[in-house]
Amino acid sequence: MDALETLSEWSQILACPVPQSLKAEFANDPDRASKMTIQAGDLRIDYSKQMIDEIAITRLLDLASARATASAFARMAKGERINFTEGRAVGHMALRTPRGEQFLIDGVDVVPAVWSVLDQMANLARAIRSGEFIGSTGRRIRSVVNIGIGGSDLGPAMVYEALRGNRSPDISCRFVSNVDPADLEANLAGLNPAETLFIVASKTFTTVETLTNARAARQWLVDQLGESAVEKHFVALSTDTQAVREFGIDTKNMFEFWDWVGGRYSVPSAIGLSVMIAVGPEVFFDFLSGMHAMDIHTAQATGRMNGPLMLALVNIWNAAALKTSSRAVIPYSFDLRRFPAYLQQLIMESNGKSVRSDGTRVPYATSPVIWGEPGTNGQHAFMQLLHQGTDVVPVDFIGFARTSADDASRNELLFTNLLAQSRALAFGRNIDELPDSPARPHRVFEGNRPSTTIVAPELSAGVLGQLIALYEHSTFFEGAIWDINSFDQWGVELGKELALSIGSTLADFSTHNHPELDSSTHTLLSWFTEHRQNNNQ
Ligand code: F6P
Repeated sequence: MDALETLSEWSQILACPVPQSLKAEFANDPDRASKMTIQAGDLRIDYSKQMIDEIAITRLLDLASARATASAFARMAKGERINFTEGRAVGHMALRTPRGEQFLIDGVDVVPAVWSVLDQMANLARAIRSGEFIGSTGRRIRSVVNIGIGGSDLGPAMVYEALRGNRSPDISCRFVSNVDPADLEANLAGLNPAETLFIVASKTFTTVETLTNARAARQWLVDQLGESAVEKHFVALSTDTQAVREFGIDTKNMFEFWDWVGGRYSVPSAIGLSVMIAVGPEVFFDFLSGMHAMDIHTAQATGRMNGPLMLALVNIWNAAALKTSSRAVIPYSFDLRRFPAYLQQLIMESNGKSVRSDGTRVPYATSPVIWGEPGTNGQHAFMQLLHQGTDVVPVDFIGFARTSADDASRNELLFTNLLAQSRALAFGRNIDELPDSPARPHRVFEGNRPSTTIVAPELSAGVLGQLIALYEHSTFFEGAIWDINSFDQWGVELGKELALSIGSTLADFSTHNHPELDSSTHTLLSWFTEHRQNNNQ
């Protein structure tokens, strides 16, 4: 692939002037909002408050054509091994392909296997929800504890919260991810082991945090109900049957997925089991249908009608032309409060890369830092910096016309606050609008701070599926344009290796010299050894 910086389409973008005033852009074109709004399924994506104009949009679309983003997407949809550093296909779209349709990976249609696992999950979910499935002492399952980390935690934890309105009142789920014993301890508090199902969720089944927590949870169960209870109270979600067996979970209690499912793309797979138990198979299938609808939209909508593509191009523009290095995602929805954390893994683990396909270093910025909290809370915390700070931080606002709670007036308050924030960011307030006082310059809002607003009628399972797939595919398009591999995560490996090696250093730290350590690590280990011993006394 040609280096991005050698393309004339890229030079055209770098040379493109950034509009100076959103006020003027809106005044000069009364149709700006409709021209810069896309309807993608149930999602309405309005990027008219971005610092962008028609010339920039045309140049960005030229860049997308030069990078053949549509055929890159088609290659993923054909199951090609586009994860080139790991030699793997990228098949998460197969996970939501309707029964009876095809998704080929290495020439094999994987849809029957996908649905066989979905059916297996649905059988367990229905049996738990109806009370037919019982624990080792004959009691119904009332609590589900998902033990996983990264994609094996963030996806199900986020979707479980988001679909609060669809959950059964009889079953609650908890999510344990951190190897800090406090996480498991806090989440086991108050649980009755006889009514608890543990789901050990790990694609590789080698992740230290997950296996350590799973062993501790197993011990907690065995201490109270005996060894024979494990079979009825532990299931595994993994790609590795052998590792599940070695851990001590019967493989008939295993729900399979495959190495062509990336961890951060895995919530529609078996990794979604806790969600399916909580909301029931039918709602989970609606969620999958929503994702599939966005897959189809992305494959079929052309140019500026394509939601994920335009979201990606706006982000590319912000990084290249506005030089922004951070992006906030602010859902005006309490139920979506885990969505920013979910997107952190999706986007930053996918596109936080600096080496491109030919092994050379990129000479341009790739993924920004993704962060966020729900509105309106963020307004009383970090929004100050977004309005008046020295850094420009583009924002994605997400909002809904209706919430699950039947209270129109509070929901109006929520939505009007979203609009107030995006207007204040875009149009600001200049000094002439303010009374003369010493505080006058401090009360000026420069405006021209970019945002996109994504809205939908309500946060249904289908809409949530569309929203997730929207971000998955915009992340894909960004990676395709930057020519990086959005599907590996080598950046987390070194930390894992060093944690193991520091672990063995700690084991003999008090009896051996460790000249290989830097002085900072050495001193911190000494401190830890000293205080740990004090704690243990
Ligand atoms: O450490 C990164 C990572 O590999 C993520 O990509 C993944 O989602 C997470 O760890 C958990 O991995 P696993 O599901 O194999 O336990």
